[in-house]
Amino acid sequence: MRILITGGSGYLGRHLAPLAAEAAGELIHTYFSRRPPPVIGARYLDVRDLAAVIELVDGFEPDVIIHAAGSSGRPHSMVDVIRRGAQNITAAAARRDARLIHLSTDVVFDGRQAPYAEADPPSPLHDYGWAKAEAEQIVVRHEDHVIVRTSLIYGLQEMDHGTSWIVEALRAQRPVTLFTDQIRNPIWVATLSQACLELAALDYRGVLHVAGTQALSRAEFGRRMLDWWGVDRRETLAVGPGNSDRWPANCTLDVGRALSLLKTPLPGVDEVLRYHGLEIRDYRV
Ligand SMILES: NC(=O)c1ccc[n+]([C@@H]2O[C@H](COP(=O)([O-])OP(=O)(O)OC[C@H]3O[C@@H](n4cnc5c(N)ncnc54)[C@H](OP(=O)(O)O)[C@@H]3O)[C@@H](O)[C@H]2O)c1
Repeated sequence: MRILITGGSGYLGRHLAPLAAEAAGELIHTYFSRRPPPVIGARYLDVRDLAAVIELVDGFEPDVIIHAAGSSGRPHSMVDVIRRGAQNITAAAARRDARLIHLSTDVVFDGRQAPYAEADPPSPLHDYGWAKAEAEQIVVRHEDHVIVRTSLIYGLQEMDHGTSWIVEALRAQRPVTLFTDQIRNPIWVATLSQACLELAALDYRGVLHVAGTQALSRAEFGRRMLDWWGVDRRETLAVGPGNSDRWPANCTLDVGRALSLLKTPLPGVDEVLRYHGLEIRDYRV
């Protein structure tokens, strides 16, 4: 199988690319601003550049494209990267009849009617949610697609985006509030990577909710991650409700379909941490 991964230099991509290299006959994984050390298969790509996307896809002729580029990390160009990226990647996949696995998010929902099933209509609250919801509408124009809606991605070898942000703030002694009313089902990056590769080889089409089976508030999740990373300096850490008009509150995804479709298990955070030796305390807030 020939696999192309966009966003290979991102948090998911950095974990997914080495796994895909083992599974794929040939692999290309792309970067944008973070050039990786010289590794086989890494290519520069700006997904907003249609000609460059088509040149890469036509030249490589992938069987599967895993489109992971475009996240909430780059506020200025984020919407453009997500929307135009989806347009260009979808167009290129359609030309070659490649299978397209598109990474989307639980925050296409407004967080007021959880748990959310695949058929529930998106109801985004903020720019990122809107852009990802629009990208989904673009991707469905290509028949052989899977939209993987997922939740907070975390790893045990590299700190996830959210935990890094908390730790930086704590180090700078800035006040941080971990929200008690934002509920997510965080997913271990190894699980998500495995699920993407499994989906590459299945003939399932449509939306699939792929997330961990344990729903936690950001406060409960954040406290577990700080314990895992051994972060003690918590003097400026508070817990409390967020602003649910601006940020979706409960985006718990119903993962029943993924559990019956995939061989990849979808463990919750406690199961993953316990398996790796962390003693789980009472983290309720
Ligand atoms: N992280 C989460 O908790 C989470 C939760 C739900 C859904 N998701 C979705 O999962 C996917 C992966 O997320 P992630 O956390 O791995 O993202 P990330 O770490 O922020 O990485 C984003 C990737 O997009 C690339 N990129 C940015 N601008 C680009 C451009 N113009 N052209 C091509 N590539 C560009 C980046 O390249 P450079 O770094 O080289 O610039 C990087 O590889 C995204 O679709 C995201 O929406 C993530």
